[in-house]
Amino acid sequence: MDNGVTQPVAIVTGANTGIGLETALGLAEQGMRVVATARDPRRGAEAVAEIERRTGRTVDLVPLDLASFASIRRFAATVLERYPRIDVLVHNAGLAPGGHRWETAEGFEAAFGVNHLGPFLLTGLLRDRIVASAPARIMIVSSGAYRMAPDGLCFDDLQHRENFHTLQVYAESKTANIYFTHILARQLAGTGVTVNAVNPGYVATQLGQPREADLAHAVAVPRDNAASSAVLANLPEPMTAARGAIPSITLATAAELATTTGVYFDRTRPATLTPVAADLDLAQRLWDESERLVALHPAH
Ligand SMILES: NC(=O)c1ccc[n+]([C@@H]2O[C@H](COP(=O)([O-])OP(=O)(O)OC[C@H]3O[C@@H](n4cnc5c(N)ncnc54)[C@H](OP(=O)(O)O)[C@@H]3O)[C@@H](O)[C@H]2O)c1
Repeated sequence: MDNGVTQPVAIVTGANTGIGLETALGLAEQGMRVVATARDPRRGAEAVAEIERRTGRTVDLVPLDLASFASIRRFAATVLERYPRIDVLVHNAGLAPGGHRWETAEGFEAAFGVNHLGPFLLTGLLRDRIVASAPARIMIVSSGAYRMAPDGLCFDDLQHRENFHTLQVYAESKTANIYFTHILARQLAGTGVTVNAVNPGYVATQLGQPREADLAHAVAVPRDNAASSAVLANLPEPMTAARGAIPSITLATAAELATTTGVYFDRTRPATLTPVAADLDLAQRLWDESERLVALHPAH
């Protein structure tokens, strides 16, 4: 691809729908060259066409399935070949298992694998290019639902083979996003690359509606649907995806946040974390364990 890219480059994962689509649209509108990722080429192409139509800007599409290390490595290789700079990386893609336990290609529980370990590997592969592009920003879309794992991650059973509860695994994966932010922000301090986590709020999207392709890998039937439904029934009216994208767009672009790093935002405001989520020792433990798990599946 010629890229002739002189604009700032922003990667938005999971840009084919929901908050990701609106984030990609918002960043394109602000003049960034957006690299939208999708795992389904048809839905990705439809989303890109919609963004291009609504913004009049060119948007690139590169396939990415975060449930496959091979796909993540292919994606990273393509990006490194095509784009001399990466100014913004928005880890938006994510899933809530919707009552079904299934595993990624490497055998990780899906919420842990897709929401945490995939972004962890991807960031590592793009890290040098992002640092070389500084000032640059990395952000990860976490969730206020992290509080539903009040004891943090279950390090004895990170893959939830023994005990699978939909909300618990989702909440743990969103806590993992916060732990990732703590450690990466500290590692990148002084490089000009900022790292923040954001809760977009409650947004009307397809989250929690398992996709057919994922259900094909389901290996367990839920025991906690009733409990999950009770929690979901008590949520307020959701906001639109366009509103839900405002925090990600703000974190990616706001001049006043250019040096803010290592912060968890509730929408666009820095928020205080629970002690468990703020615990740097636990965050480092997850980092070390993630490195170990990734190393079990080297590129070949
Ligand atoms: N909606 C809310 O109320 C809410 C609240 C707090 C946080 N969040 C977070 O916001 C982010 C965006 O979610 P959303 O609400 O916009 O949900 P959504 O409409 O379900 O969109 C999720 C996106 O992630 C992608 N994705 C899922 N599995 C993937 C995989 N294996 N590889 C690559 N991409 C994958 C989806 O692609 P497919 O369409 O192909 O599945 C889709 O593009 C998530 O991280 C979520 O945890 C949402």
